[in-house]
Amino acid sequence: MFQPLTVIPGFDLWPGLLDLAAQRDLIAAVMAAAESAPFAQYEAAYGKPMSVAMTAFGPLGWTSDAAGYRYAERHPGTDQIWPAMPSALLNLWTRLGDAETPPDSCLVNLYRDGARMGLHQDRDEADPRFPVLSISLGDTAVFRIGGTSRKDPTRSLKLSSGDVCRLSGPARLAFHGVDRILPGSSSLVPDGGRINLTLRRARPAPDAPI
Ligand code: SIN
Ligand code: FE2
Repeated sequence: MFQPLTVIPGFDLWPGLLDLAAQRDLIAAVMAAAESAPFAQYEAAYGKPMSVAMTAFGPLGWTSDAAGYRYAERHPGTDQIWPAMPSALLNLWTRLGDAETPPDSCLVNLYRDGARMGLHQDRDEADPRFPVLSISLGDTAVFRIGGTSRKDPTRSLKLSSGDVCRLSGPARLAFHGVDRILPGSSSLVPDGGRINLTLRRARPAPDAPI
């Protein structure tokens, strides 16, 4: 494991950590998962559908309805549990996420042409001491990250296929988003685009006080 680039304190980047075979395997796992847990475009907080389509691996996925958005144990369209998390993702989390407590969610974002994600914080997880680990696959993204206040200055950087980054510590609650993807910068995703995987621990650690 090589040393990450610390872009800002708590935001670490491992460029090209995953080789081409590992990238292809993960994309194939996502496409297989989407057969039983189809990608869906959920409503954002302000009521418009998001341009990003989502599915998930693991005990918890993501859903949104009239009651707001939240983690959910079942796919809202099929009412089935989410596909199991691939072991490659569990192993990556053990190395770079948390050695003791496994992740309980991997959100899968699919960015086709023109999709983006506005600046937001990841704050629906119970315990922010667990990092968020993010894997980029397919087309390059122009990613933006700032501080813990929406008004803080931001900087942008490109995330390419195989890059892994981590939000932890002082950057765990940093505002971040995706300005755009660079269409055609990779041909790995069937029909084009970018897939982003985020590994998370959404529920408290098993031994956490209630
Ligand atoms: C996210 O913040 O959930 C996604 C980030 C990304 O697509 O790189
Ligand atoms: Fe996020």
